[in-house]
Amino acid sequence: MIPSDVKATLSFSDGSASMDLPIYKGTIGPDVLDIRKLYAQTGKFTYDPGFLSTASCNSTITYIDGDKGELLYRGYPIEQLAVSCDYLDTCYLLLYGDLPNEAQRKDFHARVTNHTMVNEQMQFFLRGFRRDAHPMAVLTGLVGGLSAFYHDSTDINNPQHREIAAIRLIAKMPTLVAMAYKYSVGQPYMYPKNDLSYAGNFMRMMFATPCEDYKVNPVIERALDRIFILHADHEQNASTSTVRLCGSSGTNPFAAIAAGVACLWGPAHGGANEACLNMLEEIQANGGVAKVGEFMEKVKDKNSGVKLMGFGHRVYKNYDPRAKLMRETCHEVLNELGLQNDPLFKLAMELEKIALEDDYFVARKLYPNVDFYSGIVQRAIGIPVQLFTAIFALARTVGWIAQLNEMIADPEYKIGRPRQLFVGAERRDVKPLDQR
Ligand code: SDX
Repeated sequence: MIPSDVKATLSFSDGSASMDLPIYKGTIGPDVLDIRKLYAQTGKFTYDPGFLSTASCNSTITYIDGDKGELLYRGYPIEQLAVSCDYLDTCYLLLYGDLPNEAQRKDFHARVTNHTMVNEQMQFFLRGFRRDAHPMAVLTGLVGGLSAFYHDSTDINNPQHREIAAIRLIAKMPTLVAMAYKYSVGQPYMYPKNDLSYAGNFMRMMFATPCEDYKVNPVIERALDRIFILHADHEQNASTSTVRLCGSSGTNPFAAIAAGVACLWGPAHGGANEACLNMLEEIQANGGVAKVGEFMEKVKDKNSGVKLMGFGHRVYKNYDPRAKLMRETCHEVLNELGLQNDPLFKLAMELEKIALEDDYFVARKLYPNVDFYSGIVQRAIGIPVQLFTAIFALARTVGWIAQLNEMIADPEYKIGRPRQLFVGAERRDVKPLDQR
């Protein structure tokens, strides 16, 4: 953080003592006003529900320019990473700060590959769930449950523990997500195979059965790997902030990541891909493209409570760069699978076209986000809708861990404990029951 030579002075019209607020500059992006001493010096809090104007931390990991529609992981544009790297290279980059060289790449891939199995006891966790349990309910339980198996790596303040917990979580998420899926369809679990790529291994654990060999389709494998890259990290979004706040108590990494899984589940966040596909299927069932105009009128009617899922973003006020890459991946996968005329893809592109020309969306700078096309490509691959957010959680685990580890390694970090503006009852006495 670079102190700015510009100062901010807070003054009060009632003559209370004014206060200088230091300003810090980052490498790129908005400066920050340092208000850490505000309450001590003025007895006042700032007020920012939803944190629209609040920087919760300083970070070196991911930068988003919402106006330009730019996303950088450790300075590298997402467009270049999605084309020139694979997901495990991206994991290495997010965790350690730069892309691996050949030797580092080989070692990291081997370390992750050798941790893909889960303890055999984990399968008994699943047996407690109904077969039709939502996969995110199962995953929240499984990830939190991992802390019961790794007592050797639960001290978040121990760098070695943080390192092995990161490898274990990145390695085991595909296995756990595939187990949740197999459990839901009543098929046997498939063990990981160490001679497959990260994405290829996940595909086999998801779609293979013990009855025959499974051949990984390289086009789908590459598409899935790119989907993982696009979802890997995204600055201080709701689930990442949840992981940071949860981890700030000193809890173990598995518990903190389980909190992130739970937060991501919400339809305003990672659950939007599932909600978006359900929305597309509903429009399709009610008449398809011919009914888009009617649907958009509902979206623009505040009282309907209907939102165009997969559109809008707290930070992006331009096209989400991930949505562009996801749409390209959609084209590739649908062409590979001979689904060029997929009606949902056509419907989605029509919805996007109409929205981008409609004043309601233009005025509010609402563009497609990462969730708008991701459901279509995952559905084409054969992933069930209810599993979409679990795939998002699988991919985002590395971002959550990188952000958590960055916080814990910061000597200045404290337990997060926001305050409030209290608008409730003032002090009053309990009345006896017969007087209430
Ligand atoms: C993710 O934060 C991240 O980085 C998240 C994420 C990540 O990688 O971690 O990018 C992943 O969560 C992507 C977002 C997925 N969610 C959806 O697609 C759900 C639909 N989108 C909306 O719920 C909404 O756009 C949010 C939650 C994403 C953002 O909401 P904000 O920033 O609080 O904005 P807002 O609700 O104040 O909206 C501003 C205006 C409002 O209208 P007015 O009151 O000004 O008249 O735009 C309207 C909103 O009603 N609006 C929408 C809309 N999104 C916002 N209207 C219709 N459809 C939408 N999708």
